Amino acid sequence: MIMKNDSAPTDVFPHLDYKPKLPQRMDRGIGIVGAGGIVNYAHLPAYKKAGFKVLGITDRNREQADRTAKEHGIAKVCASVDELLRQPEIEIVDIAVYPAEQVHIVEQATAAGKHLLCQKPFADEYSKAVRSVELAERAKVKIAVNQQMRWDAGIRCSRLLIDDGWLGAPTYGAIQVHCKTDWSLWPWIYQGKHLEIMFHSIHYIDSLRYLLGDPDHVFTSGSRAPGETTKAETKTLTTWEYKSGLQVLIDVCHTTWQDDAYAIFRFEGTEGVIKGTIGLMYNYPTGRPDTLEFMSKRNPGYWFSARLDSMWIPDAFVGPMASLMRAIESDSVPETSGRDNLRTLQVMFAEYRSMAEKRAVRPEEITS
Ligand SMILES: NC(=O)c1ccc[n+]([C@@H]2O[C@H](COP(=O)([O-])OP(=O)(O)OC[C@H]3O[C@@H](n4cnc5c(N)ncnc54)[C@H](O)[C@@H]3O)[C@@H](O)[C@H]2O)c1
Repeated sequence: MIMKNDSAPTDVFPHLDYKPKLPQRMDRGIGIVGAGGIVNYAHLPAYKKAGFKVLGITDRNREQADRTAKEHGIAKVCASVDELLRQPEIEIVDIAVYPAEQVHIVEQATAAGKHLLCQKPFADEYSKAVRSVELAERAKVKIAVNQQMRWDAGIRCSRLLIDDGWLGAPTYGAIQVHCKTDWSLWPWIYQGKHLEIMFHSIHYIDSLRYLLGDPDHVFTSGSRAPGETTKAETKTLTTWEYKSGLQVLIDVCHTTWQDDAYAIFRFEGTEGVIKGTIGLMYNYPTGRPDTLEFMSKRNPGYWFSARLDSMWIPDAFVGPMASLMRAIESDSVPETSGRDNLRTLQVMFAEYRSMAEKRAVRPEEITS
């Protein structure tokens, strides 16, 4: 809901309906592959709140699958992906394993005719993501990627305001996050050659594309703080350039030791400005609700503020699954479809190429 300053004029009062739109049919069977951290603290709490029907789960670590099933009341633990795919009442496979392995499960699930929600990053190599999209298209099943930040309240409200013309033509966008990230939540991440952008800023890439469209060129500097035990970049500075003159800044540092961590966004346009905070990043994964304010030339000097009562984790996780179910229902394209995500990956790999080659890169340079 949008609140206004007491003294603000009453003629302008936007309505922001930012919660995910649910499908008509809520009883489509979901089967989950991977019973790790994110499934336990985000997917399953979100699906429970929404009323989605999770019928089965599998993990190559059987104990992990058993524990998760018990904790979240899932009736069936399958011994393998094959067994899960043999369950006729499972229509959607929700994958939450590591990016390098996701394509193998996509191969099996598309062969079994199941619809798919893949975790982000969609793949660790662009060609694997292209293959996943092609497999799904050939099998005539829907494939979506869990880029759930698009449903985070601050981002979704910004999009609604932009769609309603409050920003005018966008001229500047920024996401700046300086926090202390505990990588031990993801021990498998330590040895990888990619870190900050592939596993974290990919959310900002996808959300900024969603809000402002695709950039023409990207330039990224990636670095690390002294004494880190991870192998790849943990702080990045990225700029995007658009033909329209719009500029974007993504400024992320995961090694902030100071006690004034911040996670902010700001979008400026010819008609207004939107600014706010990304609540999740103030205390991951507990977080707090986002904040959002905006000022319009229609009411200069008045800052409107939104009262947002949902959280990135778990609430935003309803979004990609609901969108996938609605796409199945109406034979349309999910908001975060696999094909759309190829663009997010092109931007991501363009940023890595830029970092390595110290030059501005066009996303189209990334091909399979
Ligand atoms: N906000 C987000 O969207 C978000 C947040 C955290 C993690 N993630 C993503 O979710 C994925 C999982 O992360 P996590 O933190 O839950 O990791 P995790 O290590 O806690 O869990 C992964 C689980 O998958 C299982 N697994 C791996 N390969 C498998 C296979 N081939 N078949 C069956 N089970 C398999 C593992 O045994 C493990 O239990 C990663 O891709 C990560 O990037 C997304």
